[in-house]
Amino acid sequence: MPLDQAAISPMDRGFLFGDGVYEVMARVDGRVRAKSLHQQRLAASLASIQLDVSVEQIFHDVDRLIEKANLESAKIYVQVTRGAAAVRDHAFPVDVAPTVFLTISEFKVTTYGGCTAIVRPDIRWRRNSIKSVSLLGNVLLMQEAKASGAQESILFRDEYVTEASTSNVFVIRGTTLVTPPLSDLILPGITRHLVLEMAEALGITVIEQNVRVDSLADADGIFVSSSTRGLMPITELSPGGIVGHGQLTDTFLVLQSAYDERLRHHD
Ligand code: PDD
Repeated sequence: MPLDQAAISPMDRGFLFGDGVYEVMARVDGRVRAKSLHQQRLAASLASIQLDVSVEQIFHDVDRLIEKANLESAKIYVQVTRGAAAVRDHAFPVDVAPTVFLTISEFKVTTYGGCTAIVRPDIRWRRNSIKSVSLLGNVLLMQEAKASGAQESILFRDEYVTEASTSNVFVIRGTTLVTPPLSDLILPGITRHLVLEMAEALGITVIEQNVRVDSLADADGIFVSSSTRGLMPITELSPGGIVGHGQLTDTFLVLQSAYDERLRHHD
């Protein structure tokens, strides 16, 4: 239905508590990128907040939405909350239907040149592997980046890089790619997963290990990854200055063009 006809109760727990999870998918040239991986991650997020909803039905509805909208290149947003109860109570309500909200909007993937990132303490909670709609920490961190004229905020906890405010982080050292291992502290990004797959296919060595925040300054290259930004190179850090020689490294360019190819020719 048109957006101005859609309505959600003010008692919705997504609104009152941020009690819900979401997915963002990119459709490029008529294909939803890695749809089944998004479906699996949504199922995992729902299970970790003990919300029992049919992910198959949601993805069936996503297909209907795509068919109706008829947009070759689009961003698809899926949000599921624990629904609207009659009274505000933190504990889960009984017999309340979840709210499912799907939107599709025109969107073109951009190929980014060198970007700037600020480096900030990770002020978020400790369950970032759940793709929760409670994004206040991420919102504040992204706003801080924007206010500083930067495009992303790279985060660290206890001296180690976790992820960025809306993306996962990769460091290039020589021809080796290093990224923090999956844990409760980061989102298991679908783009991250694809980068690791592509790197392996290209014979690029990948190490999943913790990255000290003070080692970012002497990286040869840094990039962040997400469904909407693809592989976005970070050529300047604040604080930290220019990354490497301030140029995109060959390893990055090889990965970026492999990603481009993958977007256009694979699911
Ligand atoms: N964000 N880490 C965080 C905190 C994110 O919010 C995202 C994506 C990622 C990358 O995940 P993926 O590769 O699956 O998109 C990592 C989406 C795009 C958003 O909130 O709009």
